[in-house]
Amino acid sequence: MKLFLTFGLLLACGATLSSAQWNTVTGYATLNGGTTGGQGGETVYVSNEAQLVAAVTGNDPRIVKITSMITLSDVVRPGSNKTILGASPGAGVTGSGFYIRRVQNVIVRGLQISYSIAPDDGVSIDEATNVWIDHNEFFADREHGKDYYDGQLDVKHAADWITVSWNKFHDSYKTSLVGHSDNNAGEDTGKLHITYNNNWFTDVGSRLPSLRFGTGHIYNNLYERVDISGINSRMGAQVLVERNIFIDVVTPLTTDLDSDLEGFAVERENDWGDSEPNITQEGSFTNPPYSYEMEALNRVAAVVRAGAGNTISFP
Ligand SMILES: *[C@@H]1O[C@H](CO)[C@@H](O)[C@H](O)[C@H]1NC(C)=O
Ligand SMILES: *[C@@H]1O[C@H](CO)[C@@H](O)[C@H](O)[C@H]1NC(C)=O
Repeated sequence: MKLFLTFGLLLACGATLSSAQWNTVTGYATLNGGTTGGQGGETVYVSNEAQLVAAVTGNDPRIVKITSMITLSDVVRPGSNKTILGASPGAGVTGSGFYIRRVQNVIVRGLQISYSIAPDDGVSIDEATNVWIDHNEFFADREHGKDYYDGQLDVKHAADWITVSWNKFHDSYKTSLVGHSDNNAGEDTGKLHITYNNNWFTDVGSRLPSLRFGTGHIYNNLYERVDISGINSRMGAQVLVERNIFIDVVTPLTTDLDSDLEGFAVERENDWGDSEPNITQEGSFTNPPYSYEMEALNRVAAVVRAGAGNTISFP
């Protein structure tokens, strides 16, 4: 609570957010012991792929600050207990991304992550727990066909306790897939707890997210110009969808699309624009097991436009 009074992020719209609303991990990543990344470890600055790979290797706590735009030749695989930060606006990785696999406690903030050529994702989280993805800008283009780039942020294979906050996702077809296959119930059922708050999805195709088997809390996001589908709850997944804004979004929320079994959804106080949600099964997930603060619906668009993306850096 004391954080509320200290800093404020002054936004272009004149809205002031408390530090607790943008600089502190929220949602599911606060559970299971919390997500602290490399807190308490040494800080290392990196400016090329070899330095980045070396800095994120191993499980010792470490804070890794990227100082430039690094073109990757392959995915970078962080060990446990890492915080990976952009040291300046425009720092990040391009061409591939991060593969966060079989580790715990990883934070990725303040980066540009772009043009991740298939089969690499911008960020891929598999069999990993306590991951916080915050204030990044994910982008590609839609000039190379649907499968040229892969997902911008995919979460699979029983990953758990994940928060995706204040990111901007744009110019992609396949944006964020949670649970990769209808056939993976054995591994994924009871896992894949994920929170998406204050993200901006714009000029994208689908999977915002697509969620199978898991539990998703989706609040205060801004969706603009989505031409296939937005939130897709499938294979018994439970989503709670609160105070999001949808502008020019085809199928903003569905529980019956493209899978053998339908999903579940609860929606509260969303602005669907000219579209309508399609909830075929009312969900039972109404009360997230953590406290959270939401924006008033009429402030969401301005706050997200001003704050989401690669808008903060860590010199
Ligand atoms: C992460 O760091 C903590 C604290 O230093 C340590 O106890 C834990 O074993 C580390 N995780 C791994 C997978 O090594
Ligand atoms: C909702 O989905 C069901 C099943 O696909 C379909 O029959 C129905 O027409 C849809 N309703 C709307 C409003 O899109």
